[in-house]
Amino acid sequence: MPHYSRCLLCGWLVSQFVAGALGAASLRAGIKRSVFGKMPDGEEIHLYTLTNPNGMQVGITNYGARIVSIVVPDRHGNMADVVLGFDNLEGYLGKDPYFGAIVGRYGNRIAKGRFALDGVDYTLPINDGPNSLHGGTQGFDKKVWTARELSQVHPAVELTYLSRDGEEGFPGDLRVQVVYTLEESNALRIDYRATTDKDTVLNLTNHSYFNLAGEGSGSILDQEIMINAASFTPIDATMIPTGEILSVAGTPFDFRHLTRIGARINDDDQQLKFAHGYDDNFVLNHRGPGLVLASRAVDPHSGRVLEVFTTEPGVQFYTGNFLDGSVRGKGGKAYAYRSAFTLETQHFPDSPNHPNFPSTELKPGETYHQTTVFKFSTAN
Ligand code: GAL
Repeated sequence: MPHYSRCLLCGWLVSQFVAGALGAASLRAGIKRSVFGKMPDGEEIHLYTLTNPNGMQVGITNYGARIVSIVVPDRHGNMADVVLGFDNLEGYLGKDPYFGAIVGRYGNRIAKGRFALDGVDYTLPINDGPNSLHGGTQGFDKKVWTARELSQVHPAVELTYLSRDGEEGFPGDLRVQVVYTLEESNALRIDYRATTDKDTVLNLTNHSYFNLAGEGSGSILDQEIMINAASFTPIDATMIPTGEILSVAGTPFDFRHLTRIGARINDDDQQLKFAHGYDDNFVLNHRGPGLVLASRAVDPHSGRVLEVFTTEPGVQFYTGNFLDGSVRGKGGKAYAYRSAFTLETQHFPDSPNHPNFPSTELKPGETYHQTTVFKFSTAN
């Protein structure tokens, strides 16, 4: 429609009309199930597309209980998918840096893959330098979960997985349930629950890679972030917490006010150098139990805003420092260095080896329950 582009008002009217027509179609909130691919043994994997009355859409697959897509509007109503990932299961079965996955049993690192519980030593697979990362070589991100659509007010999908005693070295039969609920307020709520039949350790998180300008649209360094944390847990050269809890004041880790992600990322700071950017656990300012605002991220260009609320004590802020363009994601786009950030709400890395950190132990008779909410909106 070239003649419309010459008139700003006409262009705006046309876009409102088109948005209205699309809106009418997308008002059909609900869940659609489709085939996402097949596992090497032939098992069919599904994609659940959740739609809310505003037209926000979230794709969830039962392979790794992953978030595959989150489609949200910018300040003009233009929709974009703001998480990195692949178009189909095949991509996730290849070289995949945990895109959108539920990570478990233990999110982030356990030093040298060793911990002791009730006087027994446990050994985990080493898959990240000298350490064990994200639950080992066959973590929850690589498991086929059982999915069920929940009939409740909001579109929701439940994913369950039974992790057997000894799987990836962890003790106890662990029953895990993750429920994704898409609310009318453009919030995606994740509820994690788990029970065990033996003392074990557990640290679940979601590993979505966000780019509020849209996945595959380049660097996130001009996007801004606030992290509601007065301290963080510094790491050693192998990215294991030293055990200290340090104030963020006067460091590049002070995100108590909205700050450009790139403002200090290349500072001459040993912590930033160890991780090649941000890849640190922040200690959230909780004033009691329940959800707290962990972080607010803003893309000044599109106006998209992400707020993360959580019951967890920490959040791992990672700026995609290990992305290098070699992974080709949706539509064949190369995902470049620092082209996404993660906000992995969780307990602190390597907690089983740090008695001063909040405990990650789960005992028979207890129910693990954590909640994280990714809420989207726009700013002018
Ligand atoms: C993050 C972790 C990073 C890196 C990434 C996966 O959770 O903090 O160090 O391992 O996962 O590539």
